[in-house]
Amino acid sequence: MPESNAFVGPIAPYGGRLVDRTVTSDERWRLAERAESLTKVRLDGRILSDLYLLSVGAFSPLEGFMDGETYESVVEEMSLPNGLPWTIPVVLPLKGDETTRLGPGDEAALFAPDGELAGILEVSEVFVRDAEREAERVYGTPDTAHPGVAAVTAQGTQCAAGIVHYAYPGDISGFPADHHTPYATRRHFQEAGWESVVAFQTRNPIHRAHEYLQKCALEIVEGLLVHPIVGETKSDDVPAEVRMECYRVLLERYFPDDRVLLSVLPAAMRYAGPREAVFHAIMRRNYGCTHFIVGRDHAGVGDYYGTYDAQRIFDEIDSDALGIRPLNFEHAFYCRLTQQMATSKTSPSNPDQRVFLSGTKLREMLRRGERPPAEFTRPEVANILLEAYRD
Ligand code: ADX
Repeated sequence: MPESNAFVGPIAPYGGRLVDRTVTSDERWRLAERAESLTKVRLDGRILSDLYLLSVGAFSPLEGFMDGETYESVVEEMSLPNGLPWTIPVVLPLKGDETTRLGPGDEAALFAPDGELAGILEVSEVFVRDAEREAERVYGTPDTAHPGVAAVTAQGTQCAAGIVHYAYPGDISGFPADHHTPYATRRHFQEAGWESVVAFQTRNPIHRAHEYLQKCALEIVEGLLVHPIVGETKSDDVPAEVRMECYRVLLERYFPDDRVLLSVLPAAMRYAGPREAVFHAIMRRNYGCTHFIVGRDHAGVGDYYGTYDAQRIFDEIDSDALGIRPLNFEHAFYCRLTQQMATSKTSPSNPDQRVFLSGTKLREMLRRGERPPAEFTRPEVANILLEAYRD
């Protein structure tokens, strides 16, 4: 079959084929029996979500956790060994005696934090990662106060590589009704007849600036995937349950429902700024999107990255290979001069005429019980946030 007919949706999966490493419920029973005699590896929530994303094809063409050669290539060259751009390592760090009990040719039984069998790893290699170099190259800083660096540093340095079989019985997202696999989002786009779809990554409630970006993008493409990350985020980010309430009310009131799909992405935030922007785009291509919104300080934290570094990194990436197109946006704000949402590209206003709150300022206001201005956040969203931050 020619490649163009081999996939569902408006764009081919990354690497050409949507990976599926999930097992049927019958196979799960067989794996569970096999698992009894295997070395057990206990996954934390972050690695479980990577296992899930590998297995449903969100990380296509990866079929398992990276080996040493792939890890090196990603850290140093921002590509897989075959040259395909890839910016963030996807590895399985081992702990304690797991490191001495596993070697090439073994199988390991992977267990979720709740004790359920999550899958099986066919071990091809055990290698040592260099966490300090990874921090410098991938996160751009050795600072362990950076939440992404802290997560890498807390993990083991020995990593097991190999293809996976996914057998976790439940829904790992916490929001099963709003959770769709890459195949399911692709099918949705196909059925809706959308030939171009823009993805919006977020880890925050959708404020007016976010809404503006999405609507500008929707003016030039046919559909919008609102794709909030609901895996592990840092402790002061707004919890996913609260964000989901905000997304639902906003989409219901202010977006045409035949143009938008809300679906959660159970991935952990890395806060790796530019490198994570490319990683986010690759995942969204696998979910069937043709375009990807990159605004100010995408996936950034603190002052580690320049405001537009996450846009500039795409200049270093082979855009034909990447396939999905970044849509760059400048810092958006409500403009009192032109009385509309704007950026410095579209408004001659001075800084005093621009309404914008940083995440920290917003959280401080909410904790004091103060309502954020309607120019910054829709009142329906503000109500949900005020309620969540009460006491
Ligand atoms: S992120 O970690 O997922 O990037 P957030 O949810 O705040 O954080 O941002 C989602 C997307 O909106 C990112 O592409 C980000 O760059 C963009 N963005 C957020 N706020 C603004 C803004 N005021 N102006 C322009 N882009 C923004």
